[in-house]
Amino acid sequence: MSKIKVNNYNDFCPQQLFLYGTYREDGTPNFGLFCWFSYLYAPDLNGEGAGMGVMACIGGEKLTKDLIRKKGIFSANLVTEELLPLADYYGCVGGREHEDKMRFSPTIEKGVVLDVPTIAESPVSMELQVMQEIHLESGSDVFLCKIMGETMREDLTNKAVPFIERFKSVKQVLCGGEQHYVSTDGRDLGSWGEPMKSL
Ligand SMILES: Cc1cc2nc3c(=O)[nH]c(=O)nc-3n(C[C@H](O)[C@H](O)[C@H](O)COP(=O)(O)O)c2cc1C
Repeated sequence: MSKIKVNNYNDFCPQQLFLYGTYREDGTPNFGLFCWFSYLYAPDLNGEGAGMGVMACIGGEKLTKDLIRKKGIFSANLVTEELLPLADYYGCVGGREHEDKMRFSPTIEKGVVLDVPTIAESPVSMELQVMQEIHLESGSDVFLCKIMGETMREDLTNKAVPFIERFKSVKQVLCGGEQHYVSTDGRDLGSWGEPMKSL
């Protein structure tokens, strides 16, 4: 099969979805949905040694970006099929515009290392400290972060169970093409704005 030149998006290279958690000025949590996320190797920051980090691109001006800039820390919580209605809502409703955005809420816990809100129902939560913000163009900024803490559903650490079985049990949601959510086993989970209707 030959390839043709296209002016495409990243439709066939989908990314996982994460809910970024921050605290507002009054101490209440806020969550937003994000997919422009990948990994990097980060240097030692506070004597904990070099290790994994992430790069998070945040486009436009939004509450999550305001709060990350203020505090320099946030959490990234992996989105699963169970969390999708709530995640879709957090991605379609702006925190700056809707004071009551958090009227729908997961079970919120505190980070184990950083003072960030994390989601109990998410199987993987990372606690991130910003190392550097790179301004690309109006509204488009990349945050380079170090993973300072991470929690994971306990059964996922049980190496007596084959990795692929643990992986399948997570039921991650991919940000597939043409504004559709896709499961890791190839099911269409609805278009953006649809899953939230079940809340
Ligand atoms: C599927 C999906 C993926 C998204 N990914 C990103 C992203 O990677 N970067 C970004 O800046 N906004 C992204 N958004 C938009 C934010 O979730 C949206 O601006 C939301 O209002 C952010 O929450 P906040 O307003 O409380 O900060 C995405 C939205 C959806 C529905």
